[in-house]
Amino acid sequence: MDKIFVSFQQSGQIQPELHGQFLEHLGTCIDGGIWVGEDSTIANDQGLRHEVVAALERLAPPLVRWPGGCFADTYHWRDGIGPRDKRPATYNANFGTHTIEKNGFGTHEFMALCRRIGAKPWLNVNMLSGTVAEMVEWAEYCNRDEGTALAAERKAHGDATPFAVDYWGIGNESWAGGGNYTPEGYVAEYRKYATAFPGFVKTSMKDWMTVKDPTVLIAVGPDGNKPLERVQWTKRLFKAFADFRQPRLHAIDLHFYNWNIETPQDTVTTFNEADWYRVLAGAMEIESVIHEQYRLIEDGLAEYPVVEGPFAQKHHCDLIIGEWGNWHSLDPNAPSALWQQSTIRDALTTAITLDIFHRNCDKLKAACVAQTVNVLNALILTDGEATILTPSYHVFDLYKVHRNGQRLDCDIQTAPSQAGVPETFGFASEKAGIISVNIIHADMRLAKTIELSFAGHVEFIAAQTLHSDSPLAFNSAENPNRVCPRPAQTPEFDGEKWLIEAPAASVSVYQFRRV
Ligand code: AHR
Repeated sequence: MDKIFVSFQQSGQIQPELHGQFLEHLGTCIDGGIWVGEDSTIANDQGLRHEVVAALERLAPPLVRWPGGCFADTYHWRDGIGPRDKRPATYNANFGTHTIEKNGFGTHEFMALCRRIGAKPWLNVNMLSGTVAEMVEWAEYCNRDEGTALAAERKAHGDATPFAVDYWGIGNESWAGGGNYTPEGYVAEYRKYATAFPGFVKTSMKDWMTVKDPTVLIAVGPDGNKPLERVQWTKRLFKAFADFRQPRLHAIDLHFYNWNIETPQDTVTTFNEADWYRVLAGAMEIESVIHEQYRLIEDGLAEYPVVEGPFAQKHHCDLIIGEWGNWHSLDPNAPSALWQQSTIRDALTTAITLDIFHRNCDKLKAACVAQTVNVLNALILTDGEATILTPSYHVFDLYKVHRNGQRLDCDIQTAPSQAGVPETFGFASEKAGIISVNIIHADMRLAKTIELSFAGHVEFIAAQTLHSDSPLAFNSAENPNRVCPRPAQTPEFDGEKWLIEAPAASVSVYQFRRV
């Protein structure tokens, strides 16, 4: 029998930013997805699709990255401000999107969304067809409180209060579509952007060195899917940073997709048992990538030269994953670019990935799922008037209980099944005396009883399970609640352990109170 033992040893706080999201002008993520425009017959709040916003309000993503992705590296922010009927039409050829971009959803609309759903904005800067000056002006436009011309322009467009954007990504995937840079070439360019980035914190000269500037400048991290290249990218990036003086740098942004494009029989909604385990195993790989990249950052920083003079500062750089998720074979009938259906299999990989992030909360600062609506590992799909919550949405919703919780060490005894995928995954955290335990049961066909025990006394509060009648199940406009969480039965307690009935292909969250 599979066993999970939860110790009461707290080993790190789970930053909410691990549950971030990513919105890009790609396919129908924005146009037609979250943004329908004020004149739409679809219910909307100032142009934002009402039901999508309501779903996101419930999820309260702590961080949202925008406007891309690859799109960011051709985006000129001025195209997306001012009266909407005066905004220029541009062309979006991003990943086969091929639509006229009317720029109805720009900086103010994105900020309005973030405010509504309680998310911190992450703006990604155009380092390919843009300029340093363009970035500086965007930052000034967004963040300057004083009466500069750019602040006045923002006010004239409806937002007197600065947007206070802290997260700024400098370029996107600069090793590929973002410029085909070498690490050294990228760093040479990054130095200019980071150095020119304005300061918005007002301090006296006396406090200048001690007051914390909230800005997070994020450099392009490696392609997580290329085992050799990703090591080279990060090593050479830090070697280049170590040369002479160091620019401001707070994090690097790694991208990792769980590619599933080489097996024609796997059409996202029809797959066999081998496909099931292969995709689950693929999701597990990200943990070793996090360990490897964390170590490379630490090693790279250790090579920085000793700073002479009075302004010596200790350098630190966080690891962020700005894009992650399953990337299945293209569906020839997909309604828009990179649109893919999401089954309970995607829910399991989403849960496995978030558990890896939680477990590595000392190594990973933030992460954004790609993407929020209608693209890749989507949390929400739209179909005409309908807004559909995917099984992955429900995982994020169930897992909210871990935000700001303390990670608890778990010992898991389980049998390996196919492709090295354990039958049972577990994770636990504690917040205000409540212990939340995730149990992922990866067997595609068979239910199982799992023994759950704790280092001390607990009482059961509640549990929810996400599963369905079939491992191929997904939600659609016709059947929107086929895969959604339902209360799990109260587990039996035999005096030592709780007996958890885990359905096949399920994700559950059990909650207990310490007594
Ligand atoms: O998320 C889709 C695309 O994947 C992004 O635009 C790009 O950054 C990545 O290659």
